[in-house]
Amino acid sequence: MLQDSFGRRFYYLRLSVTDICNFRCNYCLPDGIGCGRSLEGENPLSVAEVSTVVRAFAELGTEKVRLTGGEPSLRRDLLDMMHAVRDCDSIRRLAITTNGYRLPAQIDDWHSAGLDQLNVSVDSLDPAQFHKITGHDRLDKALAGIDRALELGIATKVNAVLLREHNLSEFERFLGWIRETPVTLRFIELMRTGDNREFFASNHVSGSDIETLLVRDGWQQVIRTRDAGPAREYYHPDYAGRIGLITPYGKDFCASCNRLRISAQGKLHLCLFAEQGFDLREVIADGDHVALADHIRELIHGKAAAHDLHEGFTGATRNLAMLGG
Ligand code: GTP
Ligand code: 5AD
Ligand code: SF4
Repeated sequence: MLQDSFGRRFYYLRLSVTDICNFRCNYCLPDGIGCGRSLEGENPLSVAEVSTVVRAFAELGTEKVRLTGGEPSLRRDLLDMMHAVRDCDSIRRLAITTNGYRLPAQIDDWHSAGLDQLNVSVDSLDPAQFHKITGHDRLDKALAGIDRALELGIATKVNAVLLREHNLSEFERFLGWIRETPVTLRFIELMRTGDNREFFASNHVSGSDIETLLVRDGWQQVIRTRDAGPAREYYHPDYAGRIGLITPYGKDFCASCNRLRISAQGKLHLCLFAEQGFDLREVIADGDHVALADHIRELIHGKAAAHDLHEGFTGATRNLAMLGG
């Protein structure tokens, strides 16, 4: 089992399959992907390479793989990548994080390919505000895709980054939505990145303030599983849905870190805000998953106890699209 110098174990791999995104979220990629870049991204991992990565992590004890982007559904061979993950017996959970752009068109195929956890970003329930935040009129598509995922029985989480000037006023509306909608709605505390410093200063909302509101209204905390993401989850007897809080600025947030990241070009990132990624492309391309696992086992000792966001250091992370969050 892969374990770092602080005794943390890694059950969860976040595998970015492209660093390209077609949205322009104001807190992430306000200027879009940039001129001249193809929607497939530059030389992202192939299906065979994805398979090698997943088998290496399985060898190290990983039980859950989340495909991330940019926007993963921009990859034409996404289904093949899902099959490559599913072909690995010890991976018990296949998850994906998407902006919902292609959700209604693709969710049935993802389900058939063995997807069991879906996370969709919905930063506003108001179409005009959704457009202002993301640059797209796709709220109805995301919501239709979520409805279909629920019909198919896929565990579905909805991500909303709380933004003081854009959607904080929708807090009650979000809660109203999950009275009848059985999703886990996660309020994410905005993280400072290399590119969003000014935006961060005017829009950051403290996660602990939100927690105080929830506890006051009778929301109770749920116990975390070992392959869970970073959210603390809450339930309430009057609501079909749950709430999750992702509070990276909270005390001890990193103590329960159980995940590692591989970028779309095959770099290992020990933290979302690490100073660097370790280029494993050559070893990955060789196809020897045991050798790759040995490499990762050595590198894990360099994982820091915590990120330095409190001090304002964002490491090499210019935006979260480049690494899938
Ligand atoms: P589950 O596995 O379903 O709980 O998902 P998740 O919350 O890990 O995944 P998702 O892709 O939906 O990410 C939601 C938010 O959590 C994003 O803003 C991520 O950047 C953030 N996040 C996930 N893991 C970490 C982490 O290790 N550190 C920090 N700072 N943020 C993280
Ligand atoms: N802070 C917090 N969350 C972010 N995301 C992207 N950028 C940031 C940021 N700076 C979220 C997206 C998506 C998830 C993968 O990461 O909204 O839900
Ligand atoms: Fe928005 Fe996610 Fe795309 Fe960033 S990667 S622009 S948060 S949809």
